Amino acid sequence: MRTKTFGTELGHGIRVLCQVGRDETDPSGHPHISEVSAVMFSPEECPEGFFKGQIIHLSDSLGEGIFWECDAHSQGLCDVYSFLLMEGKPLYDTIFGQVGDLFHLERLWIAPKHRGKNMGLACCAALLALFQNDCGYAAMKPFPLQWEGRADENKSQFLADRQKLVSYYRPLGFICAPQPDELQDEFYYRPLDGFTKILGYGRSGWRRVNKVRLPAMPEDWPF
Ligand SMILES: CC(C)(COP(=O)(O)OP(=O)(O)OC[C@H]1O[C@@H](n2cnc3c(N)ncnc32)[C@H](O)[C@@H]1OP(=O)(O)O)[C@@H](O)C(=O)NCCC(=O)NCCS
Repeated sequence: MRTKTFGTELGHGIRVLCQVGRDETDPSGHPHISEVSAVMFSPEECPEGFFKGQIIHLSDSLGEGIFWECDAHSQGLCDVYSFLLMEGKPLYDTIFGQVGDLFHLERLWIAPKHRGKNMGLACCAALLALFQNDCGYAAMKPFPLQWEGRADENKSQFLADRQKLVSYYRPLGFICAPQPDELQDEFYYRPLDGFTKILGYGRSGWRRVNKVRLPAMPEDWPF
């Protein structure tokens, strides 16, 4: 297992610590998938938020063989493959066109007392910048976590809550993948090759910038 940690300031005194881990030695595991987790700490060093995601290493995998790895990993990654990476889907070229790896933003949560400062966006922007060199695309499904496993209970309220999240993430520049119908899972994606008009972060807080400056990368960054 190879792991790497990386930390940066998000503004408002909040610090994010990110860890990326990948086990290439176990062929029965997920040798082409890195786990990405990040924890946000308050100035008092209390954990106040978390992020979870994955990097799918499409550039060093064997074409469609990656489907079985995504399938075995989780329903989330199986959906990412089915909606975005399969033949005919928007990011099919990332596998066969060697466009690079895919960064999947799976979930984000911030403690209620720290909400309202857009720290979630600042965290995502920092991670997008961090993986920009290695990943050709980033993808996500804006999903209000309170509806996990129960989206059918009140479809209209679920769709309203999801729309709020879609608007929330809009400044990050994700675009909606074509959907067969409105009740399908909505996936969003964006290329990571030019950061126009997304959120940036700085010591004084988050702000709109034309380009996110990449944090310095460790020399032996393995991913
Ligand atoms: C999503 C989240 C990380 C954003 O934190 P933040 O950067 O501080 O931003 P806010 O919490 O102020 O949310 C921004 C807007 O999105 C809305 N929003 C955020 N999460 C929402 C949810 N789960 N359901 C409905 N609306 C939501 C907020 O109501 C707010 O809208 P408003 O400005 O009209 O009040 C945080 O709200 C959270 O932890 N939500 C619960 C977990 C979750 O659903 N995560 C989404 C995973 S994709």
